[in-house]
Amino acid sequence: MDERLERYVSELFAAEDPILRKIRARHDEQQLPPINISPEEGKLLHLLLRIIEAKRVLEIGSLGGYSGVWLARALPRDGKLITLEKDPRHARVAREAFTDAGLEGRVELIEGGALEVLPTLTPGFDAVFIDADKEPLPQYFDWGMRLLRVGGLLLCDNAFFHGAAVDASDQSGNARGVRAFNTLASGDPRLVATIVPVRDGLLVGLKTRDDA
Ligand code: SAH
Ligand code: DHB
Ligand code: MG
Repeated sequence: MDERLERYVSELFAAEDPILRKIRARHDEQQLPPINISPEEGKLLHLLLRIIEAKRVLEIGSLGGYSGVWLARALPRDGKLITLEKDPRHARVAREAFTDAGLEGRVELIEGGALEVLPTLTPGFDAVFIDADKEPLPQYFDWGMRLLRVGGLLLCDNAFFHGAAVDASDQSGNARGVRAFNTLASGDPRLVATIVPVRDGLLVGLKTRDDA
């Protein structure tokens, strides 16, 4: 999307409150990589969770907690966001963000590599938001589908991956992971999916059944 139009949407519909601004400022201060979702993507994720009345959500890749706050704010008081982060420094910043936002009761951050932690989780999630390393995306697809309830949402950031989605000459592990994920999501009979062209592309899929 045109950057001016993106800003227009953000300012009109996804204005940040002081807490989100503080999280972003801390991000910069701590020199975390500036790869958090954008406000309009945050608002879209928030809205999708509200539409399905999500109560139990999984995020892979917490970074500094920016997306986590948009997600957790969509949940009822007794809802739960489980967010996975392998970098202890990122995890510390994210925990601070959830506390600042008054969400510590609604968020459980599990520190560790996603592929180690995913097998320990109980299925039945209302939504799974994938936003971590890109090479294992096909494995995250399988885990997401296994952990989602029927009627749940499979959400994946960076579906375009800066254009690498359509650049077959990019044979990096990351680009291959993103393309494989998109192909899996488009062809799986258990899923109805598309890519919303917000920021770097957000893949949105509805799990419609359990069996293939
Ligand atoms: N969702 C965040 C951005 C996540 S950036 C936001 O929008 O605010 C990607 C994060 O995934 C980084 O913090 C990185 O440390 C983490 N990560 C990368 N590989 C991982 C893995 N295998 N398991 C868990 N976390 C991982
Ligand atoms: C980048 C952006 C992301 O949103 C992400 O999850 C990983 C990497 C990037 O711009 O490199
Ligand atoms: Mg991302």
